[in-house]
Amino acid sequence: MKEIKATELKENPFHLFKDRWALVSAGTKEKCNTMTVSWGGVGVFWNKCVATIYIRPQRYTKTFIDEQDCFTISVLGEEYREALAYCGRVSGKEVSDKWKEAGITPSFDGEVPYVKEAEIVFKCRKLCEGDIDPDTFLDSANDDLNYPNKDYHRYYIAEIEKVLVKD
Ligand SMILES: Cc1cc2nc3c(=O)[nH]c(=O)nc-3n(C[C@H](O)[C@H](O)[C@H](O)COP(=O)(O)O)c2cc1C
Repeated sequence: MKEIKATELKENPFHLFKDRWALVSAGTKEKCNTMTVSWGGVGVFWNKCVATIYIRPQRYTKTFIDEQDCFTISVLGEEYREALAYCGRVSGKEVSDKWKEAGITPSFDGEVPYVKEAEIVFKCRKLCEGDIDPDTFLDSANDDLNYPNKDYHRYYIAEIEKVLVKD
């Protein structure tokens, strides 16, 4: 893979998250996990290029995101749609090797895991985080629609330290 600047990215970010989906990976070489996300985005905050992800409290990957300073967002080609569906359906808590079961491979930038088969990888360093608070919702319909189980997301805003794209 080769490194590019975040500002050189050609991909439409709405298409990237909403349609292509992505895998958020976190942990260490010793133990790491990955999960599918389609809610999130990239933008600018504190004059830095950032990515924001929204993670529900019960996700196993959240344990690793919370333990480490960095995580990655990997975007895969259409041929990995089944792997993305698997990583969005099965928890790493339920299987001994989620990566293997999904047919993908963990690779590492330093200690930070990403998906080897990815076309685009964002390496992200957490800047700030918080819980989505229903008291701030302007329309309670969004609470009923998105949180029947009251499992409010935690948001993470993270600086994009590195963008890797397939050669
Ligand atoms: C298309 C798709 C998008 C998803 N997006 C998110 C998301 O943005 N945030 C989230 O918390 N869960 C999301 N999920 C659900 C998790 O990927 C799923 O619960 C996963 O099994 C969690 O894995 P883990 O427990 O191993 O971390 C999504 C699932 C799918 C299929």
